[in-house]
Amino acid sequence: MSFPKDFFWGASTSCAQVEGAYDVDGKGLTTWDWDQKKINEGTCSFKYASDFYHHYKEDIALMAEMGFKMFRMSISWARIFPEGEGKINQAGINYYKNVFKECHKYNIEPLVTIYHFDLPAALEVKYGGWHSRKLIDLYVDYCKVLFENFKDDVKYWLTNNEYNVMIYYGAIDMLTGKPNNLTDLYNTGHYQLVAMSKAIALCHEMCPDAKIGPAPNLCACYPKTCSPMDTIAAMNMEDIRNNMWVDPLVYGKYPESINTYFKLNDITLDITEEDLEVFKHGKPDFIGFNCYGNETVEYMEYEKMDFSDMAGADNRKLSYLQKLTAKPGIGRGVSNERFEKGIDGHMFDPYCIRITARKLTDRYHLPLIITENGYGRPDTLEEDGTIHDDYRIEHLRRMIQEMKIGIEEGANLFGYCPWSALDLVSTREGITKRYGFIYVDRDEDDEKAKTAEMKRYRKDSFYWYKKVIESNGEDLD
Ligand code: BG6
Repeated sequence: MSFPKDFFWGASTSCAQVEGAYDVDGKGLTTWDWDQKKINEGTCSFKYASDFYHHYKEDIALMAEMGFKMFRMSISWARIFPEGEGKINQAGINYYKNVFKECHKYNIEPLVTIYHFDLPAALEVKYGGWHSRKLIDLYVDYCKVLFENFKDDVKYWLTNNEYNVMIYYGAIDMLTGKPNNLTDLYNTGHYQLVAMSKAIALCHEMCPDAKIGPAPNLCACYPKTCSPMDTIAAMNMEDIRNNMWVDPLVYGKYPESINTYFKLNDITLDITEEDLEVFKHGKPDFIGFNCYGNETVEYMEYEKMDFSDMAGADNRKLSYLQKLTAKPGIGRGVSNERFEKGIDGHMFDPYCIRITARKLTDRYHLPLIITENGYGRPDTLEEDGTIHDDYRIEHLRRMIQEMKIGIEEGANLFGYCPWSALDLVSTREGITKRYGFIYVDRDEDDEKAKTAEMKRYRKDSFYWYKKVIESNGEDLD
């Protein structure tokens, strides 16, 4: 039992969460530069992040020291088009050229996400973001500039990150706490799928040597019991949580059960004949997916569901599942007591990659890569500069053990890029929640971060992952 010889070991980041330099060298503002304070209710924002913008050489050298074969990063749309459209910012193009050059210096293959949550703010103001069909063409224009400029630098592209999670987050209005109009919401997902499909076809035309795929968040879906109705609830969940976000790209249509779900909830997607034609031509070469865990569901009649904890504006406290299941046609999310507990007591599901990757292999018959997986929590920087994150090592070790068995069982995985290469600003919990192999010395205070050196330190997991990569996944001790 072993990993394929040319398996891509690496790790992931996103531009908004690591780069900082939010207004440097002509970059336009993004919706995240705007909103972060409101979302986190803290002071730590994406403005300075981990200052990868100025530290990229040092960071990529550290990744090379760990033996990375691949580095997942994203491009900031607003660095290329400060207004989201129109005039191109050459400094942005030059910056990413330099980052790619640095990766290639160490034979690290960049895996590049085209769009990872951070929409140019101008597009939100002018068009209402992905609520407008207009975004499809603007996204394709942006992709064209990327393919033209980076066709010699990038061989692996990812379209949009977690476009499915963006929908669940949007299920309830952040400000009022009231449910958003579901048709509008699902249309934003549909428009992204059409845009991605167009970008895939364009990439095949402009960069014939490159490969391109999506990066949704997919998970294992379990029924609470072996009752047929719980099983059906889990099947519904799997269709709405996973399959509907990949089927249109690969097969040009949504899964059958989605039609029932949409009917029950008065959702009418804005699907045109032209969209269906687009889907026929934009089939991905592989599927990248972020995989952190599972959803466990039990059947429950809609009338009997208790949504009392859905009230209030604190949208962030609600799980994706609560938002999803607060509608007829799925079931109710429950906790699953069967999972393992880590040495620090956190509950996790090491089987999630193994199960999800096997199912995807059989459903799509395409190569797969893990684009995120990992464990975020606070770390302690000791006086001697060490960071003892044995909880993270144990978490990743169990994931990799099961992933390895999954490959043996037939899962067609060609790479593993956990979250994250270096500490970055979490989407919900600032820099206190850390994921990296590389520690970045800053705290929640943006004012301090502005002038801080943001020194880098190797965590224990850094040395451990180096051994894992060196042994191609054989030495996990
Ligand atoms: C994924 C996102 O949802 O999860 C990342 O693609 C994010 O951008 C990661 O950082 C971890 O979630 P969080 O909320 O801890 O940042």
